[in-house]
Amino acid sequence: MSPTTAFDSPEALTEALAAENYVIDPEFAVVVHLATALERPLLLEGPAGVGKTELASSLAAASGRRLVRLQCYEGLDDGRALYEWDYGKQLMHVQMLRDRIGELLSGTTTMAEASARLQTEDTGLYTEHFLSTRPLLEAVLSPDPVVLLVDEVDRTEESMEALLLEVLAEQQVTVPEIGTFTARSIPWVVLTSNDTRELSPALKRRCLHFAVGFPTPERETEIVSRRAPQVAPEVVTDVVELAHLLRGFPLRKSPSISEVIDAARAAAVLGLRSAGELEKVRPALLSALLKYGSDRELAVRRLDDDEPGPGIVPTAGSDRPDTAASTTAGAFGAGRAASTGSRAAADRNRRGGRR
Ligand SMILES: Nc1ncnc2c1ncn2[C@@H]1O[C@H](COP(=O)(O)OP(=O)(O)O)[C@@H](O)[C@H]1O
Ligand SMILES: [Mg+2]
Repeated sequence: MSPTTAFDSPEALTEALAAENYVIDPEFAVVVHLATALERPLLLEGPAGVGKTELASSLAAASGRRLVRLQCYEGLDDGRALYEWDYGKQLMHVQMLRDRIGELLSGTTTMAEASARLQTEDTGLYTEHFLSTRPLLEAVLSPDPVVLLVDEVDRTEESMEALLLEVLAEQQVTVPEIGTFTARSIPWVVLTSNDTRELSPALKRRCLHFAVGFPTPERETEIVSRRAPQVAPEVVTDVVELAHLLRGFPLRKSPSISEVIDAARAAAVLGLRSAGELEKVRPALLSALLKYGSDRELAVRRLDDDEPGPGIVPTAGSDRPDTAASTTAGAFGAGRAASTGSRAAADRNRRGGRR
């Protein structure tokens, strides 16, 4: 398949993504469609595990474009993001030219003379051939348009954002020893952020923005059914319902979509075939859905007794550093405030405020 230049409509995009088993909300589809049609970078923010990275790889697959991925981390620098000189290759090249260099320098008597003569010659060491390209330069140099994924951009320092901005705004990369490479094709750029820090306004200004949240139960059922087709639909519905119940609790870490997919697969392995059987394997499913001891304790208490009492207040010495969660959980002690608290937590989760 030759790389797609644009999708005709949000609906066409939705269909192409569905063929890659990516389920997209109509509102989200419009924004992705716009980003591709306008060739504007798309910034996706939201909690971990809601399908941000997957959108980029599915978009690449759906459009026949190659995915070029820059995984961000603290300490990421130009050498990992843009390019590095391949010193090993340059050294080999010099070794091979040894005889020619010997001839060139014959007749010189001092070091200064030899050095001056060498400088008049182009050894060809600083050319594209000796560059180790990293994702940003790779995307710019690619003759076929690619999808450039800048993943978890919130993990880098702000200085990296400045470099990104330059590449995104100018669609070019300057290598001082060679000159400026202008984009040979315009990449579709997807940036993701897990919202651990505020990104610079300058970066945001360059991008279209979409806040990806947890899906509705209907949408999540569709996602899980596509990703785990071996699981009975009734079981998928039950697992998704459990996950949504859990996301309403003031947890330290709400179950992500990938964890719900894992739980559904686990349910099938444990022999569940029809609706209403979840109760008997619930402890095992919680192992797939929750990853903190304190979250598990809280969930078990809340699921066992939806009418919370004072026992719901987190115990001293729990491994929960998140004081906001503790405070919300504390409110459950006050009888009917429970449902308000859990709804507030659900709202926060939907907005991606809790990670
Ligand atoms: N809309 C979706 N359609 C299909 N699968 C999805 C969707 N959202 C999430 N997933 C599943 O969840 C997994 C985790 O998503 P991922 O993109 O890694 O999350 P994020 O980058 O937001 O942390 C994916 O590998 C995929 O299996
Ligand atoms: Mg991701």
